[in-house]
Amino acid sequence: MEQLHQSIIDAVREAGAIVRSADEDKGVKEKSGHQDLVTRYDSAVQRFLEERLLSLLPEAGFLGEEDAPNHTEREWVFIVDPIDGTTNFIKGIPIVGISVGLARNGQMEQGVVYNPYTDDMFTARRGHGAFCNGKPISVTNNPLADGISFFGTSLYYPELEDRSFAIAKKLFESSLDVRRLGAASLDLCYVAAGRGECYFECSLFPWDYAAGSLILEEAGGIVTDMTGAPLRFDHRCSMAAANTASHQQLLDLIAGCGWRGDKMGAGS
Ligand code: IPD
Ligand code: CA
Ligand code: CA
Repeated sequence: MEQLHQSIIDAVREAGAIVRSADEDKGVKEKSGHQDLVTRYDSAVQRFLEERLLSLLPEAGFLGEEDAPNHTEREWVFIVDPIDGTTNFIKGIPIVGISVGLARNGQMEQGVVYNPYTDDMFTARRGHGAFCNGKPISVTNNPLADGISFFGTSLYYPELEDRSFAIAKKLFESSLDVRRLGAASLDLCYVAAGRGECYFECSLFPWDYAAGSLILEEAGGIVTDMTGAPLRFDHRCSMAAANTASHQQLLDLIAGCGWRGDKMGAGS
């Protein structure tokens, strides 16, 4: 497993070189709507990773953002977001995550998230802790009041806009400040590394959080959906992630804003 982990890290680092060497013209296209963009690099990086990762573990299935799922019923499944933070990538904002999770029977076993611009390599194996560039990382003990709160806008779901901003406003009032990084995988890693205390988003896909959720858990954090239920990796769901000191506070704040469960939009 250790050798496989290192080989996954090497593949992700190589994928980072593809991202960094992108042309000025990134071949931007709209996907589901005006705010949902994709570039030719999203698919190029996914193709590269699919080939490399499946050569490391040929019996695994593959779930990636940019293509049809491939044998996701198998015991081992790679869950991949080739470029998390595509809008940042297009705009030249250096907050982009290449995210590779490896699940076994629906449970995350390995996670790797790499920002090719800052060269931050976040890694975790279940039971072995979390690391940034090989150094152990852990969450802070700060309560919400002394915390930075990350959030995402679930921008592809306009029906979630009012709820997202209502919760973000409450968090702004209840913590030191809010941040919207634009890459869910890195939101999770930033909490894991103690750069902030919590993160929420009303709807995400498994490839956004597969790797980051394990990295945060291995760093001592708690990761659930916004009702406190365990995450699923076969379906989209909401996200409430935090250090242990503020996770319940985050859930209470979210419930206080009227969130009653993912049927409100996140999981439909
Ligand atoms: C998006 C980013 C963003 C989050 C969205 C995701 P993408 O992923 O993680 O921060 O708010 O919900 O879909 O489309 O850039 O891979
Ligand atoms: Ca994503
Ligand atoms: Ca993506």
